[in-house]
Amino acid sequence: MNEENRGKYHIVTYGCQMNLHESEKMAGILSRKGYVETQNKEEADVILFNTCCIRENAENHAFGNIGELKKLKRSRPGLIIAVGGCMTQEKGKAELIRKRFPFVDIVFGNLNLEALGDLIDERIRSKKKIVSLRDEAPGAIEYDPPLRNSYPNAWVNIMYGCNNFCSYCIVPYVRGRERSRKPEHILEECRALVQEGYREITLLGQNVNSYGSDGTTEMRFPELLERVANIEGDFRVRFMTSHPKDFTKELVDVIARNRKICRLVHLPVQSGSDRILQAMNRRYTAGEYLAKVAMLKGVVPDAELTSDIIVGFPGEAEEDFEATLALVEKVGFASAFTFIYSPRTGTKAAEMPDRVEEEVQKRRIMRLIEAVNALTREKSAAYVGKEAEILCEDYDPKRGLYFGRDEYGRMGYFRSEENEVGKFVTLQIESANGVSLFGHAVRSR
Ligand code: 5AD
Ligand code: SF4
Repeated sequence: MNEENRGKYHIVTYGCQMNLHESEKMAGILSRKGYVETQNKEEADVILFNTCCIRENAENHAFGNIGELKKLKRSRPGLIIAVGGCMTQEKGKAELIRKRFPFVDIVFGNLNLEALGDLIDERIRSKKKIVSLRDEAPGAIEYDPPLRNSYPNAWVNIMYGCNNFCSYCIVPYVRGRERSRKPEHILEECRALVQEGYREITLLGQNVNSYGSDGTTEMRFPELLERVANIEGDFRVRFMTSHPKDFTKELVDVIARNRKICRLVHLPVQSGSDRILQAMNRRYTAGEYLAKVAMLKGVVPDAELTSDIIVGFPGEAEEDFEATLALVEKVGFASAFTFIYSPRTGTKAAEMPDRVEEEVQKRRIMRLIEAVNALTREKSAAYVGKEAEILCEDYDPKRGLYFGRDEYGRMGYFRSEENEVGKFVTLQIESANGVSLFGHAVRSR
């Protein structure tokens, strides 16, 4: 139940889907306190930054945006500014935020996000600035309902944290060890979402393939995924992220026999060089990765893959980078997120010698992006003249077009006189432009 009308809130989110979903949880907390959302910072009573620390530029971005609020806070002292998310969990960062931005009212972490409502009350009551962090990750706590704003897609956490300690990655430090939610809680949430009319469910975890290995349940990810897919209703299911070392035939078999599971697997490879993969502590070789891809395509011939790839990891020589390019070509990714390596304090890689020069990193990422884009364009062009089923997500008033993605994540645009949001629409594709398809609707459901 809402309390009294408290005014308006505005949330700025950085980073991944996990963070976007956590912002939905924070929005749920704020709305139960009696706040309503505004897109306009100037009129907000609470401004919340949900930060990300996975790469330095995400941090810099947040720092810049928080800094800009100094003036607004001066003109409206009653405004509450809260900073949460992964960055505040980094060693020393909360203190840094307090020092650099003394006008920030509340600093809290992603490990205690459920405390947000109480922290706001405390701030209003006591007028004191608050830093509230939790060092130890809680168990897989059941959060209060999120206020979702991603209809017709819904994100569902199946687990939190990560045990993998890839040498470049800060996630295990800021999100703690793996903990899985109980299957009955996950299934209950998914059933309710389907009943409410959500038409796509994305199961979220840093490494969904190790679901349950913390001892929470006997159930493993393939069975959980199949149970979600078996919920009655017309919807589709995605999951992310899968670590290649834990990607199994059992999971692939589940994908093969459940048409509701999207035939797109996000399988981050990070590098195509065995030497670099070892230094990254990824625990597979390029050959093993390719064998998993072949296994997937052997069982699900129409499967496609997307990936995360890092260039310029310490010690990456030209031939290592060439090996990455070769792997990208061999797999033929539908698309990929590409990153320049960013040293994160506290990780093993940050201590490694042989940093790659920025100029070299930039040159490599440009070549990689070009290679990935060429694959994406090629795959888009192959759609022309064929049908594609998209889940309509929204309407773009500027272009006068509805749009949504097919199961492979390709964005399709079309015109319609009716509201198509939330429907599966089959498009006859007339043209393709890089990542986007254009067509006309032939049927919908
Ligand atoms: N530098 C660059 N990219 C990184 N990622 C994680 N940590 C770093 C880092 N320090 C990338 C990985 C991961 C994705 C979510 O972010 O590719 O899969
Ligand atoms: Fe980071 Fe590796 Fe865990 Fe992914 S699997 S969150 S890259 S440590």
